Amino acid sequence: MGRVLGVVLLFFLGSVGVVSGWDGRIVMPTEERVKEPEPAEEGQRWAVLVAGSAGYGNYRHQADVCHAYQVLKKGGMKDENIVVFMYDDIAHNHINPRQGVIINHPDGADVYNGVPKDYTGKNVTVNNLFAVLLGDKEALKGGSGKVVNSGPNDHIFVYYSDHGGPGVLGMPTTPNLYADDLISTFKKMHEAKRYKEMVIYIEACESGSIFEGLLPEGLNIYATTAANAVESSWGTYCPGMFPAPPEEFDTCLGDLYSVAWMEDAEIENLKKETVRDQYLIVKSRTSNHNTYKTGSHVMEFGDLKINTEELDWYLGFDPANENVTGPIIPRENFANSLGDPKERHVNQRDADLIHYWHRYHKSKEGSTAKAEAGLDLTRAVSHRMHIDNSVELVGKLLFGVDAGPTILAAVRPRGLPLVDDWSCLKRMVRAFESSCGELTQYGMKHMRAFANICNAGVDSSKMGTVTAEACALSAFGSQTWKPLTTGFSA
Ligand SMILES: *[C@@H]1O[C@H](CO)[C@@H](O)[C@H](O)[C@H]1NC(C)=O
Ligand SMILES: *[C@@H]1O[C@H](CO)[C@@H](O)[C@H](O)[C@H]1NC(C)=O
Repeated sequence: MGRVLGVVLLFFLGSVGVVSGWDGRIVMPTEERVKEPEPAEEGQRWAVLVAGSAGYGNYRHQADVCHAYQVLKKGGMKDENIVVFMYDDIAHNHINPRQGVIINHPDGADVYNGVPKDYTGKNVTVNNLFAVLLGDKEALKGGSGKVVNSGPNDHIFVYYSDHGGPGVLGMPTTPNLYADDLISTFKKMHEAKRYKEMVIYIEACESGSIFEGLLPEGLNIYATTAANAVESSWGTYCPGMFPAPPEEFDTCLGDLYSVAWMEDAEIENLKKETVRDQYLIVKSRTSNHNTYKTGSHVMEFGDLKINTEELDWYLGFDPANENVTGPIIPRENFANSLGDPKERHVNQRDADLIHYWHRYHKSKEGSTAKAEAGLDLTRAVSHRMHIDNSVELVGKLLFGVDAGPTILAAVRPRGLPLVDDWSCLKRMVRAFESSCGELTQYGMKHMRAFANICNAGVDSSKMGTVTAEACALSAFGSQTWKPLTTGFSA
């Protein structure tokens, strides 16, 4: 009986052209396959795209997100199913050399045109992101009102790009996005049967810490991150590096893990390429072709069985690639005989310094641009020293001169979350910021120190006293520093 049905099914599929790009695998049709639901019941695809930063020095994160939109659009997804969060201060930024245009590759076309402006400027908030994921229009504050209006048969793709730190992802508005809140939003979505399966891609420093020890199996979620829990992720197409952006750009155009998945998706037959195929391709490129020189460890989390599915469930399908027969594995061994890779990328946290430096270097002697870029560079460096020194001093005041630095830097064993008490972590950050000023995107690197202060059982009133003491004499005090050149408040 099964065999007869199988033959009929093959004939049917053949006649509508589904098997025309047959890859040589023999799939025995089963009765279950015959009973596959009608397309109407198959569910819809949804996507949420988030750029967590603002400012021209962070051009690359919004470029990544605009590019992701174009990939999904080419894949046939409709605007009503794609929700975009981006600050939107890049395309028309006065220092953008190509006004109204954003590129994500040195030879790339414009990726800005057509991107829906769902949540821009001050509407890019954690609150709105959670409301969108939960389909909760009531909870929105500002923005287009578009939410993920999904049901139990739907597939959701979430992509985020920005700076991060242990346990936290940056947002262009305060507060930042904490891992525990993100995971509990996913749990609520799962309970409310808001999806069948979800795939999440995250680019940020220490992004592995968002899921490590936190994302349980059984939520039907598969996630990959650009980096493990203890390392930075990398900007690419950066000035002075290889490959470099066009001469007129003094900022990085993309991020390594991000462009790796998008540039792969654009050339693949996404009805054939599985989630795992892409994971392996992206892992190789993001590790700078297994050299890990200016590269990071791509990680996978959650329900790994999802990675056997074809990517078209999440990214759609571009008919232009229908005749691509299998995953396109990039040529390996880009390294020279000394094992040095040809490509050079920039640590997320140093990309803004490179931007200021290049702008300073290129601007005319005596110009306002030169003065501003020089001031930004100097102030960015002294702000970093202030944050680093303050955190170090807090550690020494709490645990002693010898033990302080060791306790703050300790990394818990693999598989354990960063911290047990997340509300303690948030209180410690607030205590620090009230005396020492906002951590800012650079300061997120110290989240592990605050987590370890909680793990050591320090209470928040003690932390308040110690941070006040540590920052009492600082020239920065509790001031927040914002760059002059980046159009931050655009
Ligand atoms: C935020 O959303 C509101 C409501 O849609 C809108 O009027 C406003 O222009 C948005 N603000 C920004 C900065 O986009
Ligand atoms: C794929 O191959 C078929 C058969 O050769 C051809 O008719 C079709 O145009 C090709 N599709 C694309 C997008 O090149």
